[in-house]
Amino acid sequence: GQYTASQRKNVRILLVGDAGVGKTSLILSLVSEEYPEEVPPRAEEITIPANVTPEQVPTNIVDFSSVEQSDDALAAEINKAHVVCIVYAVDDDDSLDRITSHWLPLVRSTCNSADGEPDEARKPIVLVGNKIDLIEYSTIDSVLAIMEDYPEIESCVECSAKTLHNISEMFYYAQKAVLHPTSPLYIMEDQD
Ligand code: GTP
Ligand code: MG
Repeated sequence: GQYTASQRKNVRILLVGDAGVGKTSLILSLVSEEYPEEVPPRAEEITIPANVTPEQVPTNIVDFSSVEQSDDALAAEINKAHVVCIVYAVDDDDSLDRITSHWLPLVRSTCNSADGEPDEARKPIVLVGNKIDLIEYSTIDSVLAIMEDYPEIESCVECSAKTLHNISEMFYYAQKAVLHPTSPLYIMEDQD
């Protein structure tokens, strides 16, 4: 049937990305509106009530930790999520390279493998460059090149858990990717 975005009752956002890019810091910065100097490996799942979100939809934010969680647990979380934020650190080129070498293919294959059949809907993705406080240039050119190859990427944002720059925007873009997707998330196959 026709997918009607406005009928969605909640939005579930999953943060993934290499160790140390700042996933947990981003979540705790959003919640406390200040930068936590010390963070646990994994933040508790949080629910943001509808009335304090820009789109008025209750929003769950889920952290991932490779130390605390198995590959199977990650796959289960990817399948449960409505949008996946792939986080890299703007000062760490390896974490940026891993978006295409690891994370985007992982999300695609996870969504496709649940029943052995290709999923007709791709999971929307937001690319998040954290730690923008550490550099004086932008990584957006590299990211735009990636977006050309992966149409499921809805948007990208550079931010800082430390200065809170673009933190609320990042979660707003994730909500928007679910509620108002702009790119064709449905893959039309073999239409006669
Ligand atoms: P794992 O749980 O190991 O996967 O890492 P993570 O992605 O959750 O990163 P975490 O939030 O633990 O942050 C890793 C380190 O980066 C910590 O020392 C943070 O203080 C630091 N950090 C996080 N965000 C920022 C930021 O915006 N700017 C700067 N300068 N440091 C940051
Ligand atoms: Mg963490």
